[in-house]
Order: sequence, then C-alpha cells, then structure tokens
Amino acid sequence: MYWSATEMKFHLTTKESELSDDRSLAGKTAIVTGAASGIGRATALLLHDRGVQVVAEDRDPAVEQMAQQGIVPLVADVTEEDSAARAVALARDEFGSLDVLVNNAGVIINQRVTEMSLQDFNSVLTVNTIGAFLHTREALKVMSEQGSGAIVNVASYASFQVFPTIAAYAASKGALAQLTRAAAVEAIEHGVRVNAVGSGDVVTNILNDVRSDGQEFLAEHGRGTPIKRAAQPKEIAEVIAFLASDRASYLVGSVVMADGGMGISLS
Ligand SMILES: NC(=O)c1ccc[n+]([C@@H]2O[C@H](COP(=O)([O-])OP(=O)(O)OC[C@H]3O[C@@H](n4cnc5c(N)ncnc54)[C@H](O)[C@@H]3O)[C@@H](O)[C@H]2O)c1
Repeated sequence: MYWSATEMKFHLTTKESELSDDRSLAGKTAIVTGAASGIGRATALLLHDRGVQVVAEDRDPAVEQMAQQGIVPLVADVTEEDSAARAVALARDEFGSLDVLVNNAGVIINQRVTEMSLQDFNSVLTVNTIGAFLHTREALKVMSEQGSGAIVNVASYASFQVFPTIAAYAASKGALAQLTRAAAVEAIEHGVRVNAVGSGDVVTNILNDVRSDGQEFLAEHGRGTPIKRAAQPKEIAEVIAFLASDRASYLVGSVVMADGGMGISLS
C-alpha cells in the first residue's frame, strides 16, 4: 500500500507501547460489539491490554479466535433481540459485572435513494441503530442498578454530513447520535454516561462487501481531509477507551469527532 509523507510519519512515530500505558480502566468489564474486525477488534484488544475483561461479540464466527484469558467471544447478531441479554449475562457470569458497553457493530450499503429497496434500507438501520438500542437497553438495566457505567456508540461523520448514495448509512448514524443524547439524559440520573465517537475514514473491512477496493478507497478518501490520511482503527479505539473511562467523567451525551478535521473543513 502507498503511504503519503504524513501517513508514514504517523506510522513511524506511533508505537503500540505508546498507546498502552493507561491503567484507568483496569478491572472493568466491557462488551464490544462488532469485535471481529476493524475498530471493534482494535477496541477489544486495547481495552484488554489496559486490564479490561471483554465480551467480544460479533456475528462473524472469526471472533472466536480472539478467545484468551480476559476475552470471551460471543457469536451473535446484534439485530436479534436476545443477543444483548446474552452478552450482558455472559459478562456477569464470566467476569461478575458490566461497566462498559461499546456499540460498534456496523454495516454500510451505498445506493441512491431511488434505487434502494426497503429491505436494504432496513438492514442498515437494523444493525447500526436498532442493534445499539437493544444493547443500550439491556446494559442500562444492569448499570442503572449498580449506579455506574459508560456506554460508547460508534457514530460517524455521516451522523452530520452526507454525499450521494449514503442515505441509509447517514440516517442510521444520525439516529445513533440522537439515541446517544436521548439515552444520555436518562442514564446520567443513574450515574451512567452515554457518549459517542464520530469517526472519520478508517482503513477497515467495512466496504469489502460494497466494492473490491474498499481499503484503498477509504485511504484515498482520508487523504481529502485536513490531516491528509485516513485513521488506523487503534486511533478511534483510543477515543472509545477514553470515553469509556472515568477520565471522561464530565462528558454526557457528547459526540466526540475523531475525523482528522473533515467536519470543520470546506475543502
Ligand atoms: N471504517 C470507517 O471509515 C468508519 C467511519 C465511520 C464510522 N465507522 C463505524 O465504525 C464501526 C466499525 O466499523 P469498521 O469500519 O471497523 O468495519 P468492519 O467491517 O471492519 O467491522 C465491523 C464488524 O461488525 C460486525 N457486524 C456487522 N453486522 C453485525 C451484526 N448484525 N451483528 C454483529 N456483528 C456485526 C462485522 O462482522 C465486523 O466484524 C461501524 O459502526 C462503522 O459504521 C467506520
């Protein structure tokens, strides 16, 4: 893969060890959805590295390969109503508590509105928004009772910005941003914080079912931002880990943009 000068500088100066010395999350238990790939995988591994016990949930059976001490995989589809309750029960049975939920599982379909079937539109909304709602509902029941916890939703620049063919995805992520805020004002009454990261382009597998050059496309799209590169999954995982930690104690209903400046730039 071709790296520009700014991309190369990032890769040369950012070592795994520099991203792994924060112990503020140690001892907590987390559920991470969509943990088999991309941002979810990076988040599960980063949290684990920082002493968090993780339920790694994904519909892709490949998630089972993440099994190790402190990581329990769960093969489940976030759109099925009982998946969230299963994940919460697994966290409590295996690790005795639930402190963090990361609603990360997501899909995209690129089609113009006039060409999109109801089934396709629904399939994006059901994973990206309804899956997060179901997991938030079940996690909040437990977290509210214990009087603490943090929920982090993986939103997007598409929560706020659009281009042709992104209607279903943008609708799902716009709804996720509002779900974040609406859940946040209810949850904080019980000591639980709900926030989101608004991710920019990240080099992952998310476009693999949509186009053959998915990763190259994301990398190229990222070069159009002020920072002139797409993110690596661990850069978004860092923001998620911060929002999940007590260090983010005053953030309630925030959608924190991690987009290389995309959202503030006209060019
Ligand atoms: N990659 C980007 O440029 C980008 C930008 C903004 C936001 N995001 C968001 O980041 C999140 C993670 O995406 P990614 O880029 O890492 O993609 P990815 O395709 O690498 O990973 C997504 C994971 O979610 C899982 N998943 C999908 N549907 C599921 C379901 N119904 N039940 C359980 N698991 C399911 C997939 O199996 C996969 O492992 C998504 O919510 C996505 O919308 C990504």
